[in-house]
Amino acid sequence: MKLYVTRDYEEMSLKVADIIAAQMILKPDTVLGLATGTTPVGAYNSLIERNKTGSVDFSSVRTVNLDEYWELPSDHDQSYRYFMDHHLFNNVNILPENTNLPNGMASDKDSECRRYDSLIEELGGIDIQLLGLGHNGHIGFNEPDDVFYKGTHVVKLTESTIQANARLFNNSDEVPRYAITMGIGAIMNARTVVLAVSGSGKAKALRDSLKGPVSPMVPGSILQLHSNIYVVADAEAASLL
Ligand code: GLP
Repeated sequence: MKLYVTRDYEEMSLKVADIIAAQMILKPDTVLGLATGTTPVGAYNSLIERNKTGSVDFSSVRTVNLDEYWELPSDHDQSYRYFMDHHLFNNVNILPENTNLPNGMASDKDSECRRYDSLIEELGGIDIQLLGLGHNGHIGFNEPDDVFYKGTHVVKLTESTIQANARLFNNSDEVPRYAITMGIGAIMNARTVVLAVSGSGKAKALRDSLKGPVSPMVPGSILQLHSNIYVVADAEAASLL
């Protein structure tokens, strides 16, 4: 594990973008695993800038996102498809058909989960997976549970996640109660993982993930077993390490 502690969010974002850009330069047809949330926005902005100046090229990149809310239409401004289009895809030279998210509107959720796992396999697995960290240690939407789920699955969001994400909706009643998330298997099979963490509110989750016992009650703790992981945390997030 390589740990970078940065001064602040801006420096964290640049470091995350550096690592992703390096991967894209070395392998132009990279399979990029992407994350939503406020944490990656600065890194996405930096990648957009680098794409404008020509230092990174998305024309052969394929993407797979971690998760999507269940039954939130893709044109809803809090759907993760909408987020990705607005924060990255519409602003870089990526082909829309090369961008993938779970379809939260699929009528048959089980076959959608299987489709997503097959898609990741057909792409040859994920070259580099960007992750944020939930306040309860979740990665993607893999919530604390009795077991680690290997494959893509439907998950009931915990109350703490609903409350954390309510800030982005008009009120907490509007936050979907379920989501589809990539499982721990695809995340752990990614050839490189980048975990980005910012702010004092994440300090405990980061400490429990990196220093605590490996347990499905802290999903991020599984990352201790990944052989090629970069953790990029700002000073506040790293304060309990
Ligand atoms: C969401 C997403 C996660 C994300 C996490 C943290 O629930 N499903 O992929 O990492 O919350 O979000 P934020 O970066 O906004 O703190």
